[in-house]
Amino acid sequence: MPTLLVRDLAQVVSPAGVLAPLRGRALGEVSVVEQGYVLCVNGEIAAVGPMGELQADELPADVVELDGRGRAAVPGLVDCHTHACFAGDRAAEFELRASGASYEELHSAGGGILATVHATRAAGENGLAAALERHRAWMLAHGTTTFEAKSGYGLDRETELAQLRAVAGAGGVPTWLGAHAVPPEFPDADAYLDFALAEVLPTAAGLAEAADVFLERGAFDVAQARRYLEACRAAGLAPRLHADQFTEAGGVPLAVELGARSVDHLEATGRDGVRTLGASDVAAVLLPVAALFLGRAMPLARELVDAGAIVALATDFNPGSAFCESLPIVMSLACTQLGLSPAQALAACTVNAAHVLGRAGRLGRLAPGYAADIVLLDAADWRYLAYHLGGEHVAVVVKEGEVAWER
Ligand code: NIG
Ligand code: FE
Repeated sequence: MPTLLVRDLAQVVSPAGVLAPLRGRALGEVSVVEQGYVLCVNGEIAAVGPMGELQADELPADVVELDGRGRAAVPGLVDCHTHACFAGDRAAEFELRASGASYEELHSAGGGILATVHATRAAGENGLAAALERHRAWMLAHGTTTFEAKSGYGLDRETELAQLRAVAGAGGVPTWLGAHAVPPEFPDADAYLDFALAEVLPTAAGLAEAADVFLERGAFDVAQARRYLEACRAAGLAPRLHADQFTEAGGVPLAVELGARSVDHLEATGRDGVRTLGASDVAAVLLPVAALFLGRAMPLARELVDAGAIVALATDFNPGSAFCESLPIVMSLACTQLGLSPAQALAACTVNAAHVLGRAGRLGRLAPGYAADIVLLDAADWRYLAYHLGGEHVAVVVKEGEVAWER
């Protein structure tokens, strides 16, 4: 792999320091090198600094150069919570919701998640891989160089495992969301979990890195979530939860009890939950697009940061509650709706998101030793990424030292 030099960058921007995860005051500290360069060797960042310090005579003859004039560089974005592995869409449901039907009503009437389960089961492994490839390309074009994606639209053995294989095959980080909804062929949640833990977990544990559950009225309750996650944790999967999306139902204390990697959503979490998370090592993954898309209140993000919680941001990309693959839009919402600064938003979808995926120290910074995943903006000021709502400033995406996408 040739050496890559990105030169004459208007700014090289990275969450400051070397620690991960970042919390409290450290979340908002970025380092900005003006008129800088990034040197990548063998897919890794070898050096970052001002152009004046570049040792040009030490570069190999076959070095590939990328012109950074007028551009800011930030770390490749990390989307630590998506449901990108789905077939079909829910455009008809979107139209119904626009005229007043609620997401929960559609779900209890057998639509919602179960509509996507139907389409995903019918797609077959090749159809599913093709759909995921389409979605992966959308994410990449918005600067996402690493994505997590969950199963949860199969809810039978064959399709859950096919989803996990498709995610790994597309270079994503697979999470087994075996407890997303109760499929219609089971009488209740407990009967479904009996099946999933006995028949799917043994193979899913070898394919996925984490396990996730939708703890919510109409999905799984605390006792069921605990049973599912304890079994998954014993099989080597890191516990994660969808919790407090619509109702505050015990997900935060359960996450702390289990030592979960993260608890995600938190739109309905109150002050006690904020305090509990602030005093814990469970990451709070905030998904402002889901709140916006469903017209719900935003989570108490600033309070979480002030309480010292590990805050990460993600898209929640899925066909029902968040049909949006753009982390720059998430960053805009973080700044305009959640009260975070651009620097906090950047750290939350780089270093802290990498921590949620167990990849801190390798992903999320422009610094020596990190993977050479870089986003070049067609703006000289990196804050345009969050400032220009819906603006398309991602110009070039470098993944492991090679150009993976160009506008
Ligand atoms: O995180 N709330 C549960 N799961 C997803 C939505 C999945 C869907 O609607 O298809 C979420 O919002
Ligand atoms: Fe989700």
